[in-house]
Amino acid sequence: MKIAFLGAGQLAMMMADAGRRLGDSFSFLDPNSDSCAARSGELMVAAYTDLEGLKQLALSADIASYEFENVDVHAVEQLQQELPVYPGVEALKACQDRLVEKQLLQQLGIPLAGFAEVNSRTDLLAAIEEINYPAVLKTRRMGYDGKGQMILRGPEDLERAWHKLGDYPLVLEAFVAFENEGSIIAARDHSGNIVYYPMSWNIHLQGVLTVSCSPWFEEQVQQQAKNLITRILEHFDYVGVLTLELFNCNGRLLANEIAPRVHNSGHWTIEGSACSQFENHIRAISGRQLGSTASDGVSLMLNWLGDIPDHGKLLELPGIYLHDYGKQPRPGRKLGHTTICAGNWEGIQQKLAGFRRMKHPTVVAAISAFS
Ligand SMILES: Nc1ncnc2c1ncn2[C@@H]1O[C@H](COP(=O)(O)OP(=O)(O)O)[C@@H](O)[C@H]1O
Ligand SMILES: [Mg+2]
Repeated sequence: MKIAFLGAGQLAMMMADAGRRLGDSFSFLDPNSDSCAARSGELMVAAYTDLEGLKQLALSADIASYEFENVDVHAVEQLQQELPVYPGVEALKACQDRLVEKQLLQQLGIPLAGFAEVNSRTDLLAAIEEINYPAVLKTRRMGYDGKGQMILRGPEDLERAWHKLGDYPLVLEAFVAFENEGSIIAARDHSGNIVYYPMSWNIHLQGVLTVSCSPWFEEQVQQQAKNLITRILEHFDYVGVLTLELFNCNGRLLANEIAPRVHNSGHWTIEGSACSQFENHIRAISGRQLGSTASDGVSLMLNWLGDIPDHGKLLELPGIYLHDYGKQPRPGRKLGHTTICAGNWEGIQQKLAGFRRMKHPTVVAAISAFS
């Protein structure tokens, strides 16, 4: 099958790499001419809103998908006139706007932190009255990796936050004093069959996912997460992979946000699961049977942000896998990841000990999480 993607970053690349093993071929539209997915298919360089680019992309494929939720809805609607696009545009619309997303979660009876719409300074003051400090002020649109949000710990933070974010439509939400953060990833096919991955425990540094560990949560928590994500998948009659980010408050889950796509917290599934999140997205959208999400051990994923430690050192140990996306280094940029697989967490800890001399902040975060 020929599959087109809006976006040609590492997520599109890893989906294409999974799909090529099934015999599919790939084309991508991305404004960036040095996009890393170029080595996994045909890259068309144009803005997502470029009608000619969209037409060429549609002509190149049988079905289309997108690698991230900040693509233009009109572009997806344009594509949809020419060929089937999965996941559908309704899911995309809801996930692009934090307010619409939170209202949907509420409507589906999914627990989440208190929130209020903020369109003016007066709204913000009223929202704080209602929600109280500490709270998090977020732009409704285009936020990712902790960008477009500020924590308000007290009245002293108000002016700075308003000065920085006041020009955008906003949402204020209660700060959640969670025990830890997790995510569940699931895939749904055209007939409504769903497969679920075991939840990951996700560690963030400065709002950016840095380390994921899976399977981490006890069965009761996993069951809650499955129940919540099922409601979202069924609501949209969703086809493809979807991720639900969650706050774990002592065994009770609160939804944080939905990503209508494969997720950084599921990169470990390439080596850690029978069938990865990337392959299951391709299987779902192409009408194939979903693959098994079983894993026979545990996995830890390290995100390489800004720079990647020496390849030789990373590859010395067995059960350690390096993915270098081939991107130009920039401070904080996601350049690659490493997955460490073992039979149990003691095994992971032993393998992590081999990284001890690396002073990379990701390694430091992982080691401190296990000490
Ligand atoms: N209401 C909140 N309470 C506590 N921490 C939060 C809250 N909202 C966001 N965070 C922290 O910031 C991270 C990024 O926020 P998120 O809403 O997921 O935005 P993004 O789209 O940037 O991933 C979260 O994973 C969490 O660590
Ligand atoms: Mg998030």
